[in-house]
Order: sequence, then structure tokens, then C-alpha cells
Amino acid sequence: MLIAIPDVLDAPGVARVRALIDAAEWVDGNVTSGPQAALAKRNQQLPEDGVPAREAGGLVLDALGRSPLFVAAALPLKVFPPLFNRYAGGQDFGLHVDNAIRMKRGTDFRIRSDLSATLFLDDPASYDGGELVIEDQFGPQAVKLPAGHLVLYPASSLHRVTPVTRGVRTASFFWLQSMVRDDGERRTLFELDRAIQAVATDRGQGDAAVVQLTGVYHNLLRRWADA
Ligand code: NI
Repeated sequence: MLIAIPDVLDAPGVARVRALIDAAEWVDGNVTSGPQAALAKRNQQLPEDGVPAREAGGLVLDALGRSPLFVAAALPLKVFPPLFNRYAGGQDFGLHVDNAIRMKRGTDFRIRSDLSATLFLDDPASYDGGELVIEDQFGPQAVKLPAGHLVLYPASSLHRVTPVTRGVRTASFFWLQSMVRDDGERRTLFELDRAIQAVATDRGQGDAAVVQLTGVYHNLLRRWADA
């Protein structure tokens, strides 16, 4: 499932993150790549252990926790600390798949990457190119969202970033391990959750069918989730 999550950061939130990262030193993006991705990747990245990345990443994590849509869609168990990259002057990232396991260097923090996320941090009108193209079951999907919006997609999918031919594309990106490993099960839970919210809006949270459906949601979650 590929889902866009609007307004994870509002305009002041984007500005706070940008103030932290724009003032920082950027390095070649290949510091986090596996050998195959390194061949395909041409961008800049913030050093992941630096103070700017940690502080800005903390703002992103706080914002994710305040987004009910993100929580419902991702059912996050562990989130890798958000990283930051930028592309300019024709830079791109060729077709690749993200590593299955992500380790935080120097710690024992480790996740299985079930979902990948990109949080856009520039006005799309300010740069050309820079689409995130994700191959899903319905073919390639090109994603380019307003600043503060996030796209969540299966980490198992092949994806690339097209060359940025004007301006700069800045983004935060990260991976997460979901409580529900299987994409189809996670999607079913998400769709059920959305439908329950819609029915509850019409009939009220105390409606007997809403209560029963909420029970079904939790009982499916109990079957499928690792917590
Ligand atoms: Ni990737």
C-alpha cells in the first residue's frame, strides 16, 4: 500500500526543521548505502549522528506521533531515526530496493524495514524533477508532495528518485518496523479502521455496530500484530 499523509508538519514545523538542517554541514549521500545502492545514488545527506540530524529527526518523530493517519496506516513498532537528504544539479537515485535490516551504528538498535517513508521539505514548484517513483502492483507511481506531506510505501518495493534539474529537493526519509509485518494484513486493518471512523461519525461511537466492528478490528490486530 502506498499512502500519502498530508500535513505531518505544518508550515512553522517545516520552517523549524529547515532552520536546523539548512545550517548544517552536508556530506556525500553514500555514507548510508549498501554497495548496490551506492552505485545508483547521487545526493547529499546530513551525517546521521550529528546534532542537527538528531534534533530535526526528533521534530519529525514528534510530528509522526501526532498524526492519527500515520499511526493507523503504519502501525509502527520501531522507527529508525529520520535522516535527511537533498538533490540538486541533476542528482538522482537510480532504481533500488532498501536494505531489509537497518542497524543504528554504535548501538544495538536494529529494525526490519517493513515500510519506507519520505517527508517532503520543499515547495514542489521550487524544483523540477525529484519525483519519487515507486513500482507497485499497479505499475510505477510518481510521487512529489507539498512540503510537510509524507509518503509511506512498502520497503520491499523498487523505487528511484528522478534527476533534480532545477532548484533543490530536500526531504527526510526513514524506515520503520510495523507491528503488522504483512502489507496485505496491514492494509486490511487500515481500511477497516477508516470505515469504522466513517460509520462512527454517522452513528456515534456508542452505536452497537460500531462497538462490534471496533471489536473485530482489535481482534484482527491481536491475531496479526507483534508488540
Ligand atoms: Ni531507497
